[in-house]
Amino acid sequence: MSRHDAVSNETLETRYDEYMMPIWKSLNVPLRRASDCTVEDFDGNEYLDVFSGISVTNVGHRNDAVVDAAKAQLDEFVHGCSYVHPNRPVADLAERIAEITPGDLRKSFFCNSGTEAVEGAIKLARKYTGSKEVVALEMGFHGRTLGSLALTGNHTYKREMGPAINDAVHAPAPYRYRWGADADSEAAFADRAAAEIEHVIGTHTSDDLAAIVVEPVMGEGGIVVPPKGWLERVAEIAHDHDALLIADEVQTGYGRTGSMFATEHFDATPDILTQAKGIANGLPLGAFTASPEIADAFESGDHLSTFGGNPVACAAALATIDELEGGIVAETAEKGAWLDDELAALEDDFDVVGDTRGLGLMQGIELVDPTETGPRGAAPAPAKALAATVGDELRDRGIIVGVGGYYKNVVRFQPPLTITTDQLDRTLGELRAVLEEVTADA
Ligand SMILES: Cc1ncc(COP(=O)(O)O)c(C=O)c1O
Repeated sequence: MSRHDAVSNETLETRYDEYMMPIWKSLNVPLRRASDCTVEDFDGNEYLDVFSGISVTNVGHRNDAVVDAAKAQLDEFVHGCSYVHPNRPVADLAERIAEITPGDLRKSFFCNSGTEAVEGAIKLARKYTGSKEVVALEMGFHGRTLGSLALTGNHTYKREMGPAINDAVHAPAPYRYRWGADADSEAAFADRAAAEIEHVIGTHTSDDLAAIVVEPVMGEGGIVVPPKGWLERVAEIAHDHDALLIADEVQTGYGRTGSMFATEHFDATPDILTQAKGIANGLPLGAFTASPEIADAFESGDHLSTFGGNPVACAAALATIDELEGGIVAETAEKGAWLDDELAALEDDFDVVGDTRGLGLMQGIELVDPTETGPRGAAPAPAKALAATVGDELRDRGIIVGVGGYYKNVVRFQPPLTITTDQLDRTLGELRAVLEEVTADA
């Protein structure tokens, strides 16, 4: 099999086996072409994409405005190395990000990915505070290079390759379904989950804290939405310890949760905000943004990336933001609220649906085995194999969803934000049919 043979789903998969490192089990949908919410493989099959390449193509695959902006920039210049040759796409995007980010977040650094954004944010927090230690959350995901892997609170990403450099300490996640069902109220659980962070700082650090890093809604951890009041308490705890709050919005940013950034749902502004994924609708770009006071702690030579802030990616990002602000974010909030209600109804109809949760078009359903008790004796046992089956069955019916979460038992719905209610309705119909089928077999 070689690149000279005719391309089909099978030949592509075979060449992946031969020439690519075996790090991932694919969705079995080799990509020939994609447009808005539809992707097509090499055997002529079309799929409704309800996962957007892990939450990236927020304004739709091959969005016209984004493609035009990138093509126009390709005709001007492709590389400027953002600091070596100051250039307009970089300056325009930095200014635009200052306008759309909350509070007095104003100065940005551009890189190529989420993992780099997180690592840069940690360097800045250390430089600004003069402290070293970092607290992150169990179940959190912040990337796979050794620095961001240190913050990732899931040992399966580190197996046989850890410990990561300067491992962070981890506090329990605000995961009410499993760790807080006995709390009297959302507020009581918010207090308890925040107190756990304070406890970890007291017991696991020498109080030389540079930052607390959290995802405002956990993505890879399984679409975990924190209780109201929690993020505000985490910000207070960070500041009480002269540390910074870093909100990792790599997955939640750029409209995903029905606001431009997920922190806007809460009454807390982060000191540093990391971005990537949806920022340029698929072109590689990452960023972290801070107030001038914090950003100016960096001095010349403290940080750089050769490709960071690629002008084509920055031009695409500017067009992406225009598209999002043209109504997509507001519609995401509406469609998301509707989808949230529809998914919640599944909890009553199917015992295997233990929990449904999300914000905007970042939704998940947690599948369980109601006959077995889960970890630490709380909610029912995670049903990992069932979630994989549901994902495969949906794919065979022409719908791509994600399957993940800390226990790999969460079916994730993170479509392009341009998805229509008819397409969401079709997804729900097929999901119900699949759940009926798999539970009938049980
Ligand atoms: C919250 C969060 N941070 C960081 C990352 C790492 O981003 P990347 O894969 O672009 O390095 C991810 C990726 O899923 C993420 O969800």
